[in-house]
Amino acid sequence: MKFLPISSLFIFVLVAFNFVSAQQPAVPAPQNVSSACQQEVIKLASSSDLNSCASFIKLYALQNKTMQSAASLTPIYDSYCAAPKCNDNITSADAVELQTQCQSELAMKDPTTSYLHTILVLNSPVKDSLCFKNSSGGYCDMDDNSAAVLNYLLGLNYTQPTDLSCSDCNKAIFNTFANYFKSNPQSVTTLSIDPTSFENFVISKCGSSFLDGTVPNTTSAPKKIKALFDLIYEYPKV
Ligand SMILES: *[C@@H]1O[C@H](CO)[C@@H](O)[C@H](O)[C@H]1NC(C)=O
Ligand SMILES: *[C@@H]1O[C@H](CO)[C@@H](O)[C@H](O)[C@H]1NC(C)=O
Ligand SMILES: *[C@@H]1O[C@H](CO)[C@@H](O)[C@H](O)[C@H]1NC(C)=O
Ligand SMILES: *[C@@H]1O[C@H](CO)[C@@H](O)[C@H](O)[C@H]1NC(C)=O
Ligand SMILES: *[C@@H]1O[C@H](CO)[C@@H](O)[C@H](O)[C@H]1NC(C)=O
Ligand SMILES: *[C@@H]1O[C@H](CO)[C@@H](O)[C@H](O)[C@H]1NC(C)=O
Repeated sequence: MKFLPISSLFIFVLVAFNFVSAQQPAVPAPQNVSSACQQEVIKLASSSDLNSCASFIKLYALQNKTMQSAASLTPIYDSYCAAPKCNDNITSADAVELQTQCQSELAMKDPTTSYLHTILVLNSPVKDSLCFKNSSGGYCDMDDNSAAVLNYLLGLNYTQPTDLSCSDCNKAIFNTFANYFKSNPQSVTTLSIDPTSFENFVISKCGSSFLDGTVPNTTSAPKKIKALFDLIYEYPKV
């Protein structure tokens, strides 16, 4: 089972978007929402603040379905990750505005609106997590296992991943979100996240030290767990 990277699900949820003006804005407006909500999305997509930082607008380039190879996706992550992190105060204010203008869409869990709302509220951990790279220099989010974790954490997929790798990429992602939830409890309330059940699941798979709050250097060489295991258990047989 291939997991779509977060960016591909973004493509998925934005399929209902259509171009509304000949000027081709960076992110076209959604069609199946109230006009107040549509105007709000147009406003956010044309905001100079959000256009000059690592926001959903830079990820929208991934909508191009003819560009699904790692070689063509990587430059889009590169551009998003090279951009400065958006100011949390601005994204929080934008999230509140979206909540007001898209109240019924959010209540009905309209996928596009919910996704925009989530990544505005979780601006900081989303930027960090999408930009973690592994020891071979690939983006963690382009790896199936980490993509499944992020999709779940962001509510893009409500099904808890069953196959969880205890990798540095996943440790970095989980602790980044867990730390953010701890220091910003209002984000948990705003999004009605219940982190407890997934935390328990993670701990049952990877042990409690996995959620110790530290974010490992994901680009370091992976620990040689297999080699160590072999040394301890097979050495006497040699
Ligand atoms: C548009 O929204 C309505 C009401 O929320 C929903 O029933 C319908 O499936 C949506 N259509 C599309 C194409 O998303
Ligand atoms: C999609 O990507 C292909 C290949 O990189 C490119 O030729 C094409 O112009 C892109 N289309 C759009 C709409 O950006
Ligand atoms: C965000 O707002 C708070 C409270 O008004 C302020 O202390 C902080 O400096 C602001 N942060 C940025 C990055 O502007
Ligand atoms: C690093 O991530 C890439 C995807 O970006 C993946 O193809 C590769 O297997 C990963 N490498 C390691 C050592 O996990
Ligand atoms: C959602 O997550 C579940 C569990 O990880 C997975 O089996 C399923 O394929 C995912 N759905 C999509 C659309 O990626
Ligand atoms: C992470 O590890 C890599 C490779 O060992 C090293 O080059 C880099 O400086 C480390 N980064 C940090 C922030 O420690």
